[in-house]
Order: sequence, then C-alpha cells, then structure tokens
Amino acid sequence: MSEPRHEDHGRKVAAMFGRIAGWYDFLNHFLSLGQDCYWRYRLVRLVRPEKDGMVLDLAAGTLDVSVELLRQYPGCRVLAMDFAYPMLHCGKGKKLDGKHENVRGRRISTAQADGKALPLPDDCLDGATIAFGIRNILPRSEAYSEIMRTLKPGARFCILEFGSGKKKIWKGVYNFYLNRVLPLIGRIVSGDSGAYSYLADTIKAFPDERSLGEELREAGFGRVMFIPLLSGIVYIHVAEKPEQAS
Ligand SMILES: C[S@@+](CC[C@H](N)C(=O)[O-])C[C@H]1O[C@@H](n2cnc3c(N)ncnc32)[C@H](O)[C@@H]1O
Repeated sequence: MSEPRHEDHGRKVAAMFGRIAGWYDFLNHFLSLGQDCYWRYRLVRLVRPEKDGMVLDLAAGTLDVSVELLRQYPGCRVLAMDFAYPMLHCGKGKKLDGKHENVRGRRISTAQADGKALPLPDDCLDGATIAFGIRNILPRSEAYSEIMRTLKPGARFCILEFGSGKKKIWKGVYNFYLNRVLPLIGRIVSGDSGAYSYLADTIKAFPDERSLGEELREAGFGRVMFIPLLSGIVYIHVAEKPEQAS
C-alpha cells in the first residue's frame, strides 16, 4: 500500500497531465525537435514480443508508443494504461498507416489505471513499455513489482526516460535549455506554469542510468542493459523477467 504522500503525488501528477493533455503532443515534438518519435521507435524495436502477444504500454499518455507498437508488431494486442484519462482520450484519434489503420480499434485497448496496481492477472504480458512515465511514479519499486508480476517469464520491460539532468551535456547547453528555455516555452504554450518546471525538476531528481539499472536488478529483473540516445539526454533500459523468477 502506498504512503499518503505518494498517493497525493499521484493525484497531483494525474491532474497536471489532465490539464496539459491538449498541448502535450505539440509540445513534445516541438521541444524535442521531433526527436521523440525516433526515441519511441527505438524503444519499441527492443520489446520483441511473441507474434500475436499482448504488450502493455504503461503511462501510455496520448498513445504514441501504443501506435508504434502496432506499427512494428501488427499481430500484437496493445493495452494502453494511464491514470490521466484526458491523455488517453486525446490519443484515441491517432491513426496508423493505411495498412493497419482499421485494426487500431480492436488492437489497442485503453484503460485508466495506476501502474502501481495493474488490473491484470499474473504472467499475462509478452512485453511492457513505459516512455517518459517511470519518472512520475513514486515509489518506482511498486511499479516494478507490478510489471514483474504481470510479465511472462522471459518477456521484456523497456523503459524510455531522460537521463539524469545533473550531468553536464554539450558543455551545459542542454542543461540551460532544460532549466530555463523549456519551462518558459512550456508555460507560454500550455499556460501551465508548473508542468514544465516539474519536468526539469523530476529529470534532475531522477537516478542516473547505472543507478536505474541497479534498481531494476534489485527488483528482480535480469539481463538489464541500457542504451544512450542523443549524448545521454535520453536512455532506453531493457530488463527481462527471469525464466525462473526468484
Ligand atoms: C510524460 S507522459 C508520457 C506519455 C507517453 N508515454 C509518451 O511517450 O509521450 C507521462 C504519463 O505518465 C502518466 N502516469 C504518471 N504516473 C502514473 C501512474 N502511477 N500510473 C499510470 N500512469 C501514470 C501520466 O498521466 C502521463 O500521461
């Protein structure tokens, strides 16, 4: 059971994403100069589910990863879960390419759910992703144990997340962008003064790539690896549920 301060944090995060949902996609593409699409593409390539398997896209937001999962694995079913319903709702109109467009309704199921209490049975998933979501969940260990419980042995959990903003990147240019430029643009465009300083603050408070890898091992995952993208501004972590979970 989560502590009250974590419950409170969760409610605030859900409300914040609910407020910015309408602007979320535009700001994402704009502030990352379109790089976010490539990052999600790389994330999804690493999931490698069974051909007709079921994949969870946790903290699915406006469904960009869910749609990419179906593009790369058209036989799969995707469960898109997020606890901010307005984010899921904004993503519902998204289209796949012409070939797979008509399967979207049947193959992506959305549900409002908390990553710390997944409404899923044990050992049912052939893969799980979380893109820019794990940073928002406290404590992370509760999400890890839910993912571990619901993955089939051997299936992969793939995380896309910013690296720790404590590291100086591009001689501090990135850090200046993160701390000053991004909150300002975010505030002007979305009208939400807190949301984009929250982004910078949570990136700075987030563990570096090695510590995150260690956390995943401590949570019981095996074969943990991480891949830096764009000079380590972003990382993908891949972790497997061991065949014989301990
Ligand atoms: C930055 S958005 C990422 C959305 C999407 N994955 C993407 O790639 O753009 C973070 C999402 O995490 C969701 N979230 C935060 N905490 C959560 C939790 N405990 N359970 C489920 N979703 C959560 C928020 O509602 C928000 O939609």
